[in-house]
Amino acid sequence: MARILPISDPSARTETAEHIKRGGLVAFPTETVYGLGADAFNPDAVARIFEAKERPSFDPLIVHLSDIAQTVLVAEPDARVLRLAQRFWPGPLTIILHKRDHLPDIVTAGLDTVAVRIPDHADTRAWLSACGVPVAAPSANPFGYVSPTTAAHVDEQLGAKIDYVLDGGPARVGVESTILSLVSDPPAILRPGAILAEDLRPILGKVVLCAGSDIRPQAPGRLERHYATRTPLVLLAPGEDARAHAKPDAALLTFKPRQDVAGFGEVECLAPDGLLNTAAARLFAVLRRLDSLGLSRLVAESVPEQGLGIAIMDRLRRCATP
Ligand code: TXA
Ligand code: MG
Repeated sequence: MARILPISDPSARTETAEHIKRGGLVAFPTETVYGLGADAFNPDAVARIFEAKERPSFDPLIVHLSDIAQTVLVAEPDARVLRLAQRFWPGPLTIILHKRDHLPDIVTAGLDTVAVRIPDHADTRAWLSACGVPVAAPSANPFGYVSPTTAAHVDEQLGAKIDYVLDGGPARVGVESTILSLVSDPPAILRPGAILAEDLRPILGKVVLCAGSDIRPQAPGRLERHYATRTPLVLLAPGEDARAHAKPDAALLTFKPRQDVAGFGEVECLAPDGLLNTAAARLFAVLRRLDSLGLSRLVAESVPEQGLGIAIMDRLRRCATP
């Protein structure tokens, strides 16, 4: 079983950084979701991430850095990267760049590009710096399932397969980082997150948002069904009335609090305060809880598709049963 240690404790950071250097796996917090990390330069260690997650080998990993200077260890940054980094790192922005040849192919699934980011979590950066190597990490969940936003989520699903989970409390943002490709022209957002296209345009000019299945060749891991609960989920269209779906063995997931719905076995609200950032922070924990109830169906209301709502709707669409 995994040992769960507080990442705020320097001796826990040292112990687990040593484990990374020895080729072990350590799950760690970030501001978005928890990651499952290994030394990016140790292909055997990285292979164990794929085994633990049962992740297909065509799906490349994100390399986590402690500071901007580490970028050149794995990637070939251009002038735009420094400007983006000054503005958005540490933070929930992953940038796709050309990779350096010595970075093992297993990290990038054989692509000639690599995804990099610096997490906005001070203890995590202190830990990454103690590791002394770039840390390759996907989200710390079984492949295809909802990402973990607490140490307990990681432990429940992967605890038997890994040695350590570093606990940094609930993830503040709650949805995975924005993925921006700088190798495509114009720059393209391959996965929406907390950093929006309109945040990037002042620095990059034109930025396109890739949607649906057009991104498969560019982001091989972005499957149409992903971030998915085991219980089938129906996503309502904006304004669609949930009451038509009411059943005692179904749960309703609303955006804002609602008093006017009856007939569901369970009703849960994503944003008691009506704010999109609250909805994002709670999304995966709420989906996990509803999924654990053994119901036959989850029915989710749409959230407003603006700001962080774009990322929330992306995850809900991929969770929904076609
Ligand atoms: O917020 C996050 O990004 C979290 C935390 C742990 O950092 N990580 C995360 O990793 O969500 P993961 O592996 O679950 O999602 C990474 C996504 C995958 O869809 C993968 O296909 C894409 O990034 N990706 C990685 N490298 C890529 C590359 N070179 N080109 C295109 N897409 C890439
Ligand atoms: Mg993931």
